[in-house]
Amino acid sequence: MKITKICCIGAGYVGGPTMAVIAQKCPHIQVTVVDLNEQRIKDWNDPNTDNIPIYEPGLSQIVAEARGRNLFFSTEVDKAIDEAQVIFISVNTPTKTYGKGKGMAADLKYIELCARQIAKVAKHNKIVVEKSTLPVRTAEAIKSILDNTGNGVQFQILSNPEFLAEGTAVTDLLNPDRILIGGDTTPEGEVAINALVDVYANWVDKDKILTTNVWSSELSKLTANAFLAQRISSINAMSELCEKTGADVNEVAKAIGMDSRIGPKFLKASVGFGGSCFQKDILNLVYIAKSYGLNEVADYWEQVIIMNDHQKRRFSNKIVQTLYNTVADKKITFLGWAFKKDTNDTRESAAIYVADDLINEQAKISVYDPKVSRNKMLSDLDYLQTRSVEENSNALTIFDNAYEASKGAHAIAILTEWDEFTTYDWHKIYDSMHKPAFLFDGRNILDAKEVESIGFIYKGIGS
Ligand code: NAD
Ligand code: UGA
Repeated sequence: MKITKICCIGAGYVGGPTMAVIAQKCPHIQVTVVDLNEQRIKDWNDPNTDNIPIYEPGLSQIVAEARGRNLFFSTEVDKAIDEAQVIFISVNTPTKTYGKGKGMAADLKYIELCARQIAKVAKHNKIVVEKSTLPVRTAEAIKSILDNTGNGVQFQILSNPEFLAEGTAVTDLLNPDRILIGGDTTPEGEVAINALVDVYANWVDKDKILTTNVWSSELSKLTANAFLAQRISSINAMSELCEKTGADVNEVAKAIGMDSRIGPKFLKASVGFGGSCFQKDILNLVYIAKSYGLNEVADYWEQVIIMNDHQKRRFSNKIVQTLYNTVADKKITFLGWAFKKDTNDTRESAAIYVADDLINEQAKISVYDPKVSRNKMLSDLDYLQTRSVEENSNALTIFDNAYEASKGAHAIAILTEWDEFTTYDWHKIYDSMHKPAFLFDGRNILDAKEVESIGFIYKGIGS
């Protein structure tokens, strides 16, 4: 089976970049990305590709190359489903905010809507690919909806989770560690698996394309995120012990990371991990374990989240304590709001929670982030519903450069590890601040000795 037409439902952080790379690498395949969000599609079609809705290094060039050739962004969902042989489902699967499993389980309402729409529209056999991160055995539910509400056509369901990280999405997609494809072990299932393998084989070595059964594939995605997040919580737990004992967490991380069995990656102590997935996926894993009665398994993984929440709160507490136990009416400047560098995504960013804590203490927060808009920052705070929209707007002032944002500040807190922060004239910033001037480095990106020699009272994580 040769694939020539692909449709992807969901033009978000996964659907957009993933399909752009497939289109770039497979000029013989027509790729149409559809979304219900008209503004998002309009932005993807912006004549100036620098204005596409997702900032990722290298992405706008790829979109510029493929868009209009074999890459299309559209709101015509039915048409794209009808025409495609393969339909990727890349919609959001947030934590449920209502009903059974509230605050833990993944909300699958968008997935179900996609399945129903595919079933309604499809008049020919289709391969349906789970690209979204889903609870193990979701394919069963999708299959049931497709088979029971469809027009009698055959559907093959594949699980093909995405492992890209934001900020490095393009390089991750171009050079993935592996591509995982789960499918049925029936002859029809194998035809579908091979068809998708052939798409990726246009640019990925075949020995990096792993095929498994559907359930292993679904569960491997949750497991990968749980393991990555666990490493961060583990080193963050050590960072608190380092602060009490005189050990330095950067030195500890380096020392253990040189053990080839441990490895150096994902050992950077921080103010806490953010992003749309780690917390959501671990909560989902905890919920699944509990639903099978596996309470020890659930408790084990839940601790990763408990530690992460503690780390965020610990950071804001440290700011308050260090500033003589009061930040009321003090100006505190945040450098960074995104959950990590090189992305404009702020979902679950530690900055939101640290700001919320400090505003509760009546601090005035000034923020500079190279890629995040004022509206986004305010809507992140409003989403917590801690206080009124007006109160948030009064407590948060947004600047378009760090020097202006820091003038007259009592303290600076680094919340995102943007490279440009390490290139600043820190003498100039120090001179413009209230004294004593405090610097809380939530990402350990500055050299403690250097900034202390300027005059800052410096507090990193874990030293
Ligand atoms: P997102 O919110 O950025 O994008 C999802 C898009 O789907 C939105 O634009 C939304 O309008 C659209 N959508 C929802 N229901 C729809 C429907 N019925 N029809 C058409 N469009 C619809 O989400 P995301 O970050 O791209 O994540 C998508 C999935 O991929 C999630 O399951 C996530 O866990 C997983 N994932 C995300 C990342 C990441 O880095 N963000 C990485 C790997 C996996
Ligand atoms: C993560 C995974 O790395 C991807 O493989 C996965 O596909 C994705 O989640 C997903 O499923 O959504 P992402 O959240 O985009 O990717 O970014 P990461 O690089 O994993 O960073 C997550 C958070 O952990 C960030 O806040 C980052 O600053 C923090 N982090 C990361 C640390 O605090 N220390 C580290 O050593 C590494």
